[in-house]
Parts: sequence; structure tokens; C-alpha cells
Amino acid sequence: MKRTPLVVANWKMHGQSEWIKHYIHEFVKAVGKPGQCEIVLCPPFVYLSQLQVLLRETGLGMGAQNLHDSEQGAFTGEVSGPMLKEIGCSYVVVGHSERRRLFGETDAQVAAKFAAARLYSLVPILCVGENEAERAAGTTERIVQRQLDAVLHVCGIDAFAGAVIAYEPVWAIGTGVTATPAQAQAAHGFIRNYIASHSEASAGSMRILYGGSVRAGNAAELAQQQDVDGALVGGASLAAKEFLAICAGFTG
Ligand code: 13P
Repeated sequence: MKRTPLVVANWKMHGQSEWIKHYIHEFVKAVGKPGQCEIVLCPPFVYLSQLQVLLRETGLGMGAQNLHDSEQGAFTGEVSGPMLKEIGCSYVVVGHSERRRLFGETDAQVAAKFAAARLYSLVPILCVGENEAERAAGTTERIVQRQLDAVLHVCGIDAFAGAVIAYEPVWAIGTGVTATPAQAQAAHGFIRNYIASHSEASAGSMRILYGGSVRAGNAAELAQQQDVDGALVGGASLAAKEFLAICAGFTG
């Protein structure tokens, strides 16, 4: 099945108003109307409404970096799915390794967030991936399967149809060390096959992004891998020209 490539910028905790205005101006001027590649930008929460206005009629999409699993309530500092939907988000990143590692998010919480994203019509971008020690111990597939199982258990296989999974090996994030195309394909192939063992339809419709030190210089060879349907880009998405070049690598 032909899947439209998806390239997502995760700006993490970077960018303020002037910078965003400048970035979008530069990016939109150069990209024109994006054709064969879907492009989504994920700014910090407080800039979503500014970005929503700037992205009108550009063909670019918008996502959030996190959400709370409740609809509303006494959860100081949190943001809900309906709020993200109202402000114009189509996507939301769920279970990023920085959330798991630095903020203690558990597999169960990640699964609840995935369910909430589905409930409020946001496409979840579920992040999975092993750390350096887990890779060295040869447990990559076991770790990724555990992370997938947590969501499967709560949401069921049909929730994966049309969803996005980002394979982000922790050792490749922000380190400048990218997984080789073969390593990326091996992990992506494992993820696709595992989901296919529950439902061929869900596996076929799901896009699997690679994340971890994606740059303009390595995007095209990653894009050639059969099960790499796009990228989730951190550091290199902060420069409009570099991010544009990465998108071009996935457009073919
Ligand atoms: P880098 O591209 O900076 O390695 O970050 C990857 C990432 O965490 C995207 O979510």
C-alpha cells in the first residue's frame, strides 16, 4: 500500500513569537504548496494559536507535543485533547522518550493518552524506542513490543489504523548518532509485522516515522527504506532551510 510520507517537526521547548513568524515566512516561501509529503509542525503549547493563524492556507499541519488523558478537570499545568482540537491541532505526540524519562510517564499513562487522542479525533504519534543499554543487551524488539502492547491492551488493534508510530531510539536523540538505514528498517519492519500479526489492515494504514538525529544529509537514504514512512525531527527542524531539505528527502 502506498502511504503518503509524513515529516513532523518537534520543536520541543524552543521558539518564541518573533522566531516563529520568521520561520514560517521563510519556510512557506520556499516550500510553496507541499505536494506528495505531509508536513506537520509541533510548537510549544503557548504558540499553537499563533501558529494556527500563520499556517492558514499553507497546506501545513499542526500538532501538539503532549496532552492529558482527561477531558477537563483539576490538573494544574495540563492541556486536554478537546483544547488541542479546538486550537487547530490534527496530531499529538504521545509518549516521547523525554516525557517517559524526564517526567516519569509510564506505559500505562502513555496508553491512556493514546486513547484520549483517539477519543478527541487527534491522530496520535506514538513514540517507542530502546535506550543504549537495551540495544547493547539485544532487547530492542522486546522493549518496543512492550511499549506497543501497553497501548494495544488499552485501545485495541483498530486504534492503530491510520495512527502514527515514531521509532525513536533514545541513543540517537540529540546525539548526532543516527540509526543506520538498515537498523531503522529492522525496527520499523518489526513494528509493522507485529501490528500485522494482529491486523493486516491496521499495519498497512499506519505510518512509521523514524526519529533520532535526522538531518538533511541522511533523510533521503532513510526515506528509501520500505517501512520508513517519514520522520520526527527535533534539532534539525529548528532551522527552516534544513527542515525543508529533510522534507525534500522524503518527497523523493
Ligand atoms: P533530534 O532530531 O534532535 O535527535 O530529536 C529527535 C526527537 O526527539 C524528535 O522527537
